[in-house]
Amino acid sequence: MPKPFFITTAIDYTNGAPHIGHAYEKVLADVLARYHRLKGEEVFYLTGVDQHGQKVQQSAEKAGLAPQEYVDGITTKFTALWEKLDVKYDAWAATTDPLHKECVRANLQKLWDDKDPATGESRWLYKKTQRGFYSVRQEQFLTDKERGADGEFGPEWQPVEEREEENFYFRLTQDPATGLPGFDPKQWLLDFIAKRSADGKPFVVPYFRVAELINAVAKLEGDLCISRPASRLKWGIPFPESFGAGFVTYVWFDALVNYITFVPGHDPHFRHREGNDEGRMTNDESPATGAASPSSVIRHPSFAQLWPPLHVIGKDIMIPAHGVYWPVMLKALGFTDAEMPTLLVHGWWNISGAKMSKSLGNIVDPDALADKYGAEALRYYLMSDIATGKDADFDESRLVICYNAALANSLGNLLNRTLNMAAKYREGKLKASDADLGQGSVKAAEKLFPAAFAAYEIHLALEAPWGIALHCNQLIEVMKPWSLAKTTLQADQDRLDAVLYTLAESLRIIAILISPVLPFAAHGIFDQLNWKMDEGGPDAGSDTKNRRFRLSEATWGGLPDGHILGKPIPLFPRIEVQPAAG
Ligand code: MSP
Repeated sequence: MPKPFFITTAIDYTNGAPHIGHAYEKVLADVLARYHRLKGEEVFYLTGVDQHGQKVQQSAEKAGLAPQEYVDGITTKFTALWEKLDVKYDAWAATTDPLHKECVRANLQKLWDDKDPATGESRWLYKKTQRGFYSVRQEQFLTDKERGADGEFGPEWQPVEEREEENFYFRLTQDPATGLPGFDPKQWLLDFIAKRSADGKPFVVPYFRVAELINAVAKLEGDLCISRPASRLKWGIPFPESFGAGFVTYVWFDALVNYITFVPGHDPHFRHREGNDEGRMTNDESPATGAASPSSVIRHPSFAQLWPPLHVIGKDIMIPAHGVYWPVMLKALGFTDAEMPTLLVHGWWNISGAKMSKSLGNIVDPDALADKYGAEALRYYLMSDIATGKDADFDESRLVICYNAALANSLGNLLNRTLNMAAKYREGKLKASDADLGQGSVKAAEKLFPAAFAAYEIHLALEAPWGIALHCNQLIEVMKPWSLAKTTLQADQDRLDAVLYTLAESLRIIAILISPVLPFAAHGIFDQLNWKMDEGGPDAGSDTKNRRFRLSEATWGGLPDGHILGKPIPLFPRIEVQPAAG
């Protein structure tokens, strides 16, 4: 059985309602998932919410709610938005789920129990006391790098106080004082990234980000603090008792683990490991030797079937979280190099070049936009007005312009005119024709579409259906079906049949090609073409509905001779009201 396509997204912080950046990422992953379903592949799409942490604790306090009650309320806003935007995922990661807590704690325990025989200490985790200046506002210890030109810590860090704190650390570098004998995670990561690039399967796409990551890894110093004293962070997953009382898991050792917790078949205690029911690694097998472990941790069939995923994340969480911490964590847990994921790193939506932020009051609410213009209009804008990997400016007036140009004028009009003309001149009945009036644009689309998707360039993939629509609209202008209909010449009548067939057949193919981005519109077009009604339509169950569109059927000649088209219903009414400026 071919390997399913496994895709994940970042899990969103539940300290506020979803914004347009969250919506972009989840729609992007949904579009990729739908594209793979279109190719006939099995797909597993995992997304969710990151519910722990100081900020959530504070937001809950402000709202006068218990943290769980607070995150449950915010989580509902996310799930409702995904429902509204037709984001279809297969599993939901919520980090307060007891299964996730168990998984995080079991991971910590596994790394704690992986002892160096010489010292009897864990190879991966150690406890250290840190003394220094601590920013209460940013919840972190400060170094001299954070001092301003005047040598002081700026207002963004204040209040700052001197503190001494004991915490647990995860090894990322081979510090001579605390480092691992024989294994340098930083060097392993550099070698791994280079090898993946050399093999033509870069660890990070788009490729320009690889150099950025290598640079950051090369400069890496120190290890990752993975705990907070329970006295100052209450809203998190407590460390296992064997670490001593009073520690809570801090951020990434909680959040990143979601990518394995929620994969069907993942046993938190790694009991599926072949020949080792306890799930403990023996020293011989330990990846601490630096060699790729011959037997990986992946043994359960459903987990092995899915793993490794494509992680869709924003550029801000590539360095260091997903590009450094995550692969080293996986390595430490016993994943082989072949079991490392791929990162698809997208850019940011900004507002007039500036970052969206609560303090600037420029947060864009996707829920309100979907209500105002419709979910498909928003999906379309988010997928067509940005190049994957690059930043773009969010501009509501562009949303309206893009919608009117592509959806209302080009596609909506084409569908409407085609069905109206077919009804008027032929009572909706098509006559298949040998005349080639439109196959060139379809041939071009057949090449462009998969190539653009393979490069994750959704905006370019959309050029494929738009190329066909453009050709069809030009064909109507050149052939003037209304004039052909007026003559009694057989040649004109044949030409009219050929034009109508070309238009309807092109629309069938366009529907297939837009279906990952515009599933609702694609169903609308198939319904109006009266095509594959038994596999879709309003009454079809979700299972058959998914099978209505197949990429293999996006080739010329699908509609049979004598096919009767349906009635036109406007799919994309023009948006007449321009939004108020500002
Ligand atoms: N909870 C962490 C991720 C943990 S993943 C194990 C987090 N959450 S977040 O809510 O701040 O961001 C979630 C995702 O939204 C990230 O991938 C982030 O890059 C993305 N975006 C946040 N703002 C964005 C824009 N303005 N534009 C596009 N995406 C942006 O980070």
